[in-house]
Amino acid sequence: MQSLYSNGFETIYDDMYQTFINYKEEFQFYSNIINTHSKHSVLEIGCGTGHLAKYFLESSIHYKGLDLSKDMISLSKKRNPQGWFQQGDMTNFKLNTKTASTIITARTTSYLLTNEAVHNALKSIHYNLEMHGILCFDFIDANRFFPIIKNEEIMIHEATINNKHYYRESLMKPNKRKDNFMFHWDAVYFEKLNDKAIKLTEDQSVVRAFTKNEWELFLHLNNFELIEFIDRKSYAFDTYVVVAKRI
Ligand SMILES: C[S@@+](CC[C@H](N)C(=O)[O-])C[C@H]1O[C@@H](n2cnc3c(N)ncnc32)[C@H](O)[C@@H]1O
Repeated sequence: MQSLYSNGFETIYDDMYQTFINYKEEFQFYSNIINTHSKHSVLEIGCGTGHLAKYFLESSIHYKGLDLSKDMISLSKKRNPQGWFQQGDMTNFKLNTKTASTIITARTTSYLLTNEAVHNALKSIHYNLEMHGILCFDFIDANRFFPIIKNEEIMIHEATINNKHYYRESLMKPNKRKDNFMFHWDAVYFEKLNDKAIKLTEDQSVVRAFTKNEWELFLHLNNFELIEFIDRKSYAFDTYVVVAKRI
């Protein structure tokens, strides 16, 4: 998936994911958690092309966006000229001022492939959060997802937007090494033009699912107190959202 985030392909991501994700609903969900804990600022890690940013920037919650891809950051800035966005890696970043809450949505935690990367990300997030700040993120639930991909069948996801018709063929298979719940995701992207399928790009990546138990321990070891797991289905994956407090 990483190649869809740069070199011009970010516009395909931008088009397709607007149809996969209801960003208004995402905003309502995450802002509700932030408001419940009386927090007035948020850092979004993996802010992508700035759709969620748009809603936060119209709200009373002070927003900052961080993303590894400079091309995704450019699209975010174009969509939200008044917003604050910075290129950075969640496993090693430093803000000028600490934030009261941090969110990581759309299963961006899937890119934390090693336990070391998870610990580094939690360490950086902890450093940049105020005391008792809230961390909220989602992850693909390995317990429900691995049985689905066991048969190695091709999945199709279609997206129609602004008179463009896209589809993606995905083949997902568990990583044979079984070090953790990593899986291979081979994806081919097409645009349909007059009933002809034009191949746009393809992408082979390795991404990671997690169990609730793994996150319980990761959070504990990095001085976060787990508040709750929320079961929340997404367009293609069974997902949990984690809410935790920095201690
Ligand atoms: C699945 S997309 C989600 C984007 C956005 N949150 C959305 O809802 O559309 C994952 C995003 O995470 C970013 N990303 C991947 N690894 C990252 C890292 N180590 N640090 C910061 N951002 C990262 C990618 O560049 C991409 O924009």
